[in-house]
Amino acid sequence: MVKRVPEKYQTLGDLVTLTERQLRAAKLSYGHGTLNARDEAAWLVSHAVGLEPDELVESFLRVASQREINRIDSLIRQRINTRKPLAYLVGEAWLSGYKFIVDQRVIVPRSFIAEPLLECFSPWIARPGSVKRILDLCTGSGCLAILAAIAFPKAQVIAVDISKRALTLARKNVKAYGLDRRVKLIESDLYRSLPKQKFDLIISNPPYVDARSMKRLPEEYRREPALALYGGKDGLDLVDRILGDAANYLKNKGNIVIEVGHNRAAFERRYPGMNAIWLDSGDDPDGLVWIESCNLGLT
Ligand SMILES: C[S@@+](CC[C@H](N)C(=O)[O-])C[C@H]1O[C@@H](n2cnc3c(N)ncnc32)[C@H](O)[C@@H]1O
Repeated sequence: MVKRVPEKYQTLGDLVTLTERQLRAAKLSYGHGTLNARDEAAWLVSHAVGLEPDELVESFLRVASQREINRIDSLIRQRINTRKPLAYLVGEAWLSGYKFIVDQRVIVPRSFIAEPLLECFSPWIARPGSVKRILDLCTGSGCLAILAAIAFPKAQVIAVDISKRALTLARKNVKAYGLDRRVKLIESDLYRSLPKQKFDLIISNPPYVDARSMKRLPEEYRREPALALYGGKDGLDLVDRILGDAANYLKNKGNIVIEVGHNRAAFERRYPGMNAIWLDSGDDPDGLVWIESCNLGLT
């Protein structure tokens, strides 16, 4: 592939263009850290030459070595032949500027919760300093638990997943961020194995793909654990269980935010009386529901 291209393509900038063309021609799917062939090509090239993605543009005119070209070539082949998300091939993913270790034990981090979380859910949380206990349900790679600990430096975070394998990977991420003391990982079916305690904030990006969409998932999404995606017939099985017990785990004046993805209409049909707030999270204005504890039947 890239090995045999004419010399004019051997600057990093030209290699990005060439890679983009090949990815585009292969009709891949995106959504695992990038949304199009150009951004994916830039990420692939930057990784292959040992740069962070945001360092690449400055090096566009640098001529690549044959070794670097071989690495790019190998990644392109793997990406096209296996249809694995690039994140799995390079072992890392970026979420809101933060890097996480990933492999096929977890989905590739891309939650819309990340951005508003890093802004401490302003204006819905008036005093971020008052948030002392956070629960992250369905933590996967631990990405949201880690961002929660960063955004709320006074908080202790408990992060739960039913998958032992996911938790083993999450542990690596927590360690990499030096957050072992503030982020505790627990193997649990949602709240089941949690000691009784109340939280100021519950965050969750649960599996929420409905049965119909599961059947139509592009190959790239089939490389992720089905346990992390499938949310039952209408996608709300986990959401129902999370909300059903939330009142027992939220403090008065606590809040819960859940990513429901494409299921806003189903959610509103299921909970017509709930005073839910839909957070504007940029790319997906309908995917994040914010509920204050008073709307779960608390005072
Ligand atoms: C959509 S992924 C979210 C991962 C991570 N929070 C993120 O945003 O990238 C959902 C996660 O929920 C976990 N999960 C599925 N069913 C669960 C359950 N009943 N209790 C706890 N975790 C569960 C899966 O193992 C998976 O890691």
